[in-house]
Amino acid sequence: MQVDHSNPITLSRFILQDKDIVQNNDLCILFNSIELACKVISSAVRRAGLTGLYGLDGSTNSTGDDVKKLDILSNEIFINSLRNSTKIEVMVSEENEDPIWVEGVSGCKYGIAFDPLDGSSNIDCNISTGTIFAIYAMKNTGTRRQISDILQPGRQLVAAGYCMYGSSTQMVVTYGKGVHGFTLDPTIGSFILSHKNIRIPANPKTIYSCNEGNFALWDAPTQQFVQECKNAPKPYAARYVGSMVSDVHRTLLYGGIFFYPADKKSKTGKLRMLYEAIPMSFIVEQAGGLSTNGTQRVLDLNPVHDLKANFLTLTITQIHERTGIFLGCNRDVNRILELYAAQK
Ligand code: AHG
Ligand code: MN
Ligand code: MN
Ligand code: MN
Repeated sequence: MQVDHSNPITLSRFILQDKDIVQNNDLCILFNSIELACKVISSAVRRAGLTGLYGLDGSTNSTGDDVKKLDILSNEIFINSLRNSTKIEVMVSEENEDPIWVEGVSGCKYGIAFDPLDGSSNIDCNISTGTIFAIYAMKNTGTRRQISDILQPGRQLVAAGYCMYGSSTQMVVTYGKGVHGFTLDPTIGSFILSHKNIRIPANPKTIYSCNEGNFALWDAPTQQFVQECKNAPKPYAARYVGSMVSDVHRTLLYGGIFFYPADKKSKTGKLRMLYEAIPMSFIVEQAGGLSTNGTQRVLDLNPVHDLKANFLTLTITQIHERTGIFLGCNRDVNRILELYAAQK
């Protein structure tokens, strides 16, 4: 896409010009706060080597991750910006055990789940990282606020996006009308439309992306899929960054498949539903791809589910719930679905 430098299209302008988005002013104001947070995080990531921000914070978060100093700073940046957006009632962050309820906002429309810094294990060696977010419409704007308002299946998402801190800083968003990419122009400090209507290529590259070190832990269909990739007449290329944002971004632009299945060690998978699997699945589907846990569409998974243990039905309302995930082009995700269906 050719950018007209005399007529730059910012994210706000792009949303406002779309007349049939419901409440586009609210969404526009909300995205302004997200944009600000991502610009500040981008700046912090790019100067980390100079400001002593590499390394561990020394704590672990509710999903057992070793927390990096930049995880903490990115989280604070995102929370502060969204708290002041006046459009968010509740936030769920990878780095906070409990939901963060925003005081003093009435009749708010949205809840947000976010991963303030994705791929943070890569930060100390300067490999690309990112921020992921999912925006939910609050179902019950009554007085009694409850977390089930945000524990909705992904198919009810209002919007989702990520910001990738790579060779350039790029924001990729969807609000249900396709996927669009905006590149940060550091000379003016604005995200400018650079990738309108991203679609997974009709002739997707043969790339598979996974942590193959877990091969022995996978179940048979996943193992068979990787063997097929290797034994194909033109063998697939293996590409794995280890930052979900980077692996998904490449899959979106080149095709192929990214997956992190549930396995013998992590029975419910590693990636978290609300702020990794669901937003990325919404984006990939909007770009013409598919996303499954092997048997179900990720956007149809319900973060609230009943666990029947003996005669007790425990309703799990885990905001850090995980899921296995296979996402990417139809050719490869459909093959995974066939292999899992044949296993039944
Ligand atoms: P985060 O840094 O937000 O905790 O996410 C890390 C995730 C994701 O970015 C990536 O796809 C995956 O962890 C990599 O896991 P492995 O290191 O086990 O491959
Ligand atoms: Mn983490
Ligand atoms: Mn992550
Ligand atoms: Mn993270």
